[in-house]
Amino acid sequence: MEHFVSIEQLGYNDVMNLINRAIDYKQGLTNTIKGHVVNMFFENSTRTKTSFEMAEYHLGMHVINFDADHSSVKKGETLYDSLLTMKALGVNAAVIRHSDSDYYKPLMDVGIKIINAGSGVGEHPSQSLLDMMTIYEEFGQINGLTVAIAGDLSHSRVAMSNAKLLYRMGAEVLFVGPECYHEKSLEKWGRYVSMEEALNHADVMMLLRVQLERHTAEESLSQEEYHQLYGLNKDNYPLLKKNAIIMHPAPVNRNVEIADDYVECPQSRIVKQMENGVYMRMAILESVMGE
Ligand code: CP
Repeated sequence: MEHFVSIEQLGYNDVMNLINRAIDYKQGLTNTIKGHVVNMFFENSTRTKTSFEMAEYHLGMHVINFDADHSSVKKGETLYDSLLTMKALGVNAAVIRHSDSDYYKPLMDVGIKIINAGSGVGEHPSQSLLDMMTIYEEFGQINGLTVAIAGDLSHSRVAMSNAKLLYRMGAEVLFVGPECYHEKSLEKWGRYVSMEEALNHADVMMLLRVQLERHTAEESLSQEEYHQLYGLNKDNYPLLKKNAIIMHPAPVNRNVEIADDYVECPQSRIVKQMENGVYMRMAILESVMGE
């Protein structure tokens, strides 16, 4: 891959190759990749930024962390010009998170490999792949599973990437959420159902963070109301199938999307998703760097 920017680039076999390579890394495979990589995060991150850094260190890459708040971005430098500068300085690859859903489109010919670490409400492809890895590890397949994605669908780049990829991998996709968070375009890959139907049928119950920072005043729903109607709570937890797993890309709003008690319960794979992020990002970096 020259760049890694969208789920649209990946066919079934590409996804399976990346999952299997990430599992190899998890089982102890070591590898060294030459190159200078810069991490450029223009939106906050705990997991994605740190797991890309860990992946880069494990691969022996030279890692540069771009500090946007103390850079010439504050003087009006554009993303294109920041990247052009990185290219001139000898950097080979850039891991970028940005609020613009299409930020990467004008950057494809700068001469640096672009790895999308989250683009506005557009895509979060590395999160989607680590989610596929987590599901595959659990069930040995993705094809034929029912996966429910519940929450703040219209503001979620994770929902967008996962809906596309789950559909491509042969899963049945169900969506749950308040009408004010419904996203019409998701209906290409799945159907809207009630929380009760989702809990009754899902092999994977995937909860999404309520993204208050992207909401307008009209979209506000009280946290208590959300938890009772669309969260995994003490009343509806018994409906979850006994062999189903619970996922959430995190950060979690405890007692909003999921009751505190269930974040680390035996059916939860939320911590495993974080762990798998390092190995999947090693596989992605390897694929993009061509070694
Ligand atoms: N899941 C995820 O993208 O988390 P961060 O925002 O902390 O990177």
